Amino acid sequence: EMLRSLVGSEMCIRDSREEGRKLVIVTDETIVTAQSEVLAKIAGAAAICPVPAGETAKSAIRLGMVWDFLAAQKMDRGGVVIAFGGGVVGDLAGFAAASYLRGVDFIQVPTTLLAMVDSSVGGKTGINASQGKNLIGAFHQPSLVLADTEVLGTMSPRDFLAGYGEVVKYGLLGDADFFDWLEAQGPALAAGDMEARIEAVRRSVQMKADIVERDETEQGDRALLNLGHTFGHALEAATGYSCLLYTSPSPRDS
Ligand code: GLY
Repeated sequence: EMLRSLVGSEMCIRDSREEGRKLVIVTDETIVTAQSEVLAKIAGAAAICPVPAGETAKSAIRLGMVWDFLAAQKMDRGGVVIAFGGGVVGDLAGFAAASYLRGVDFIQVPTTLLAMVDSSVGGKTGINASQGKNLIGAFHQPSLVLADTEVLGTMSPRDFLAGYGEVVKYGLLGDADFFDWLEAQGPALAAGDMEARIEAVRRSVQMKADIVERDETEQGDRALLNLGHTFGHALEAATGYSCLLYTSPSPRDS
């Protein structure tokens, strides 16, 4: 299922490459392992910068490594950073793109529900500090967000439901009809109904885009999008960004 997303990325890559632009794909190590063949296909055109899976990758040390990678690739201002993964990869790669050479273009290819409906849209990028989540970052809009809902089939049910919390958020934020629709369609969505998934992503992204258009830098309305994030982020910070978020349980843990 990752294939179509990568093919989509490949098209962007081809276009950008024809324009002579340097390309770097930032992705997580789990994806590199699971999708090595597909990544190898496009690796000739773009350099792959793997980062460890999980929230702890949103650190100053890891950011420095991504900067070093971009510099080692001799990326210039015409370069493009492609974030291929979930929210961690998007936030980290986006901030690297925002800060490297004072800003290069970046493309979001979200591979999780949470990233599709929330973190890849709206231009928030950044890393964590021990004092709190996302304390260091920049608003840097992606030039393209490519969300392929087929990819959701690769997610564990746990991670899918974690992202679904963000979808429900949009229902709570002023769309009672959407909330009712979710109450009826939730089980089908979780079970993999593609039409329902597409509609949920479409509606969520539309709502987020409307709010971000009104208030890009969170002077007012955009704070609504943090519903549920406030205490969630506090719990994450309190556990050193390690205990609450993980990609999938290993057999040992289950
Ligand atoms: N994730 C909340 C926002 O983008 O504002």
